[in-house]
Parts: sequence; C-alpha cells; structure tokens
Amino acid sequence: MSRRMKHWSLDQIAWDRFDPTKVEPEVVPLVKAAAMVERNGDDYAAYLKSVFRDDPDFQHAADNWAVEEVQHGDALGRWASLADPSFDYVASFARYRAGYRIDVKADASRRGSRTGELIARCIVETGTSSYYTALGEASEEPVLKQVCRLIAADEYRHFKLFYDHMKRYLDRENLSFPRRLRVALGRVGETEDDELAFAFHCSNDAPSVAYEHDRCLAGYMGRAMGFYRFRHIERGMGMIFKAVGLEPRGWIADVAAKGAWRVMCWRRDKYQAALAKGRAANSNQPGGVPRAA
Ligand SMILES: [Fe+2]
Ligand SMILES: [Fe+2]
Repeated sequence: MSRRMKHWSLDQIAWDRFDPTKVEPEVVPLVKAAAMVERNGDDYAAYLKSVFRDDPDFQHAADNWAVEEVQHGDALGRWASLADPSFDYVASFARYRAGYRIDVKADASRRGSRTGELIARCIVETGTSSYYTALGEASEEPVLKQVCRLIAADEYRHFKLFYDHMKRYLDRENLSFPRRLRVALGRVGETEDDELAFAFHCSNDAPSVAYEHDRCLAGYMGRAMGFYRFRHIERGMGMIFKAVGLEPRGWIADVAAKGAWRVMCWRRDKYQAALAKGRAANSNQPGGVPRAA
C-alpha cells in the first residue's frame, strides 16, 4: 500500500481557520456519522480484495482507495471534534466497528458478479461525490468547506476508478443491461439500511441509548437531504446512467433526474417530519437524540 498515491493529506487542511461561529449545528451530527462510514473503508477493501483475489491490479487499486477513504474519516472526525470537543471519534468508531461488520472473506461478490460489484461501487461513489459537494456548498464554515471539496474530488476519482475496472469486467462477463440496472437500483435502495443509521447512532447517541433504526435513519436523512439541490441530483443521475451504460446527458437522464428529485423531496419531507416528531418527544435535547437513560 502506497501512501504517496493520496491526492492530499490532513496537514494541507487549514485547521487554524476553523470558525466556531460559522458552524451550522445541524451539520455536526452528519459529519460525525459520515466519519464512521468513511473510516470503515479498510474493512470494505478487505472484502473487495477477497472478491477480486486473482486480480492484483484491482487489489492494488483497492488498497489505495481504502487509504483515501480512511483519510476522509479522519478529516471529518477531526472537524467534528473541533465543532464539538465532547465528540470522541476513536471511541465512536470502535462502537461502530464492533456492531457493523461486513463479511471480509467473501469469495464471491454479494452483487452476483464482479461487474455488479463494481457498478455498486460506482453508485456509492456517485452518492458520496454528490453528498460532499452539496454539504460543502451549503456550509459557511471555511474548514468544512475545504474538507468537503477535497473529499468530493476524491469521490469523483473513485467513481472513475471503479468505472474503468467495471468496463474491463463487462467485456469479460457480459452482464446484461437489466441486471446492471437491477444492481444499481438495489444499491440505491440500500442507503436506508443500517450502514448510515447505525453510524448516526454510534457517533451521536450516548452508549446507553439503544439503537433504533428508524429514529437514527430519520436523524441522518432528515438533516442530510436538506442540503441537496436539483443540480446535485442531476449530476448524480448522469453518473448513474454512465455506470449502467446509458447516455448520461440525454433526455431520458433528464426525465430520470426530475423524477429522482421529486422522490428525494418527498423522502426528505417524510424524514424531516419524523425528525421533528422525535424532537418534540425529546424536547430537552435539541436534535431529537434521546439523552442517556
Ligand atoms: Fe469517502
Ligand atoms: Fe470514495
């Protein structure tokens, strides 16, 4: 694994420009949760290396990719610790790692094929690239802006990395268009599984608070979805279209982006209503996060 492959380092971030007066309180729980998922990248790399065990080129790429993902976690964790000095990044991540594990010794992709695995990776990188772009643009805090800009650029490069390897496997495996589409839609749907909700729990709830998927998912999504603008969804849809082999800038992509935007607004409103309800029930604690019992 070569650390020279990274495009930036933590030392390059102007941490001394951190401005607590510009911290938007709603952003802090999101950054904490994102730090968990990013930091877990090395576990995912172990899984990828197991699935692609006879492909040294890809294994090498997966190692470099994981170094960058772990750095995303460290940068976000450090920012969150500046914004909330009571946040314990290391302890929170230890809880996350203990409770959320993927099968790192898989001998076949859970997507059914290597092409499918790489398409799923493209979808994840599309999501992170759009998310950090949206978060960085919405934030006024200069250090978070810089961190988000650097991460979003990495995520876009990751998309291209997985896309290039996917093309190579597509020639070999010939995965049909409906199957590629099914993998992509399946991965989009998984956003609502435990990965993010549990990360929100580990990084925002006191250790004595029980994990509740719906509450934590609403805590995450109700905040995160508010940062998206149509342009982010439009660009993300172009990337998804490219990953499944459709024309990324045609009228179909346009229609799909408009449809996805409407669905996202509807989901966002639903999560925000759940979040507001949770806040009302726990009005002693802003953020809808229950106090430790
Ligand atoms: Fe990342
Ligand atoms: Fe990434």
